Amino acid sequence: MSRFITLEGVEGSGKTTQILLLKKALRKKGLKVILTREPGGTPIGDQIRRILLDRKNKKMTALTELLLYEAGRAQHVSEKIRPALKQNKIVISDRYYDASTAYQGAARSLPPALVKNLNQIAAQGVKPDLTFILDLPVSVGLSRMKKRYSSSKKIDRIELEKEAFHKKIRQGYLKLAKKEPGRIKVIDANQTPKDIHTEIMQWIQSKIK
Ligand code: TMP
Repeated sequence: MSRFITLEGVEGSGKTTQILLLKKALRKKGLKVILTREPGGTPIGDQIRRILLDRKNKKMTALTELLLYEAGRAQHVSEKIRPALKQNKIVISDRYYDASTAYQGAARSLPPALVKNLNQIAAQGVKPDLTFILDLPVSVGLSRMKKRYSSSKKIDRIELEKEAFHKKIRQGYLKLAKKEPGRIKVIDANQTPKDIHTEIMQWIQSKIK
């Protein structure tokens, strides 16, 4: 049974909607499910999240950014993910270490070996059983994202990056999926939320057997 499930994707790919639908569907089957996210997932992780996404932090270097994501991840694994898996809960995380490969590796151009090593150190052996990449053209994702913003919800430091940066993220995710087809499933996010959910559930059922 797949117990650690992660969702990834470019901005505006509809992860949040899918995570909520998935939680509901698995709970209906009588399974114990917790939702979490990165960056964040713990009080320390949430403080790190604020630093990472704060638009005022214009001077943050790519290496600092990577180390902060990894620090938050190490805390997340120890404090939340591993204990929940030990209690036989299904953990659904909105992003995990594949995001560092795509964002800090492919898009910020940090050395792939460095990102891989730090991902392994932070994950402490806790690997996702199943990962869904909600894939969609960057222009579609960014325009969906912009529609969500109002005066109260401001665009964050990463979302502010140019379209070319987001295109590299998408390519980074697709490359990863090719390398690990057994774990990573790419889903066309340019479908209705219901159709995306059906596809996710079919994949999960096939893995449960
Ligand atoms: P969210 O918008 O999905 O909550 O994620 C916050 C931002 O952090 C998003 O732009 C993706 C980015 N991110 C990274 O750059 N590297 C990482 O390792 C993670 C987990 C997220």
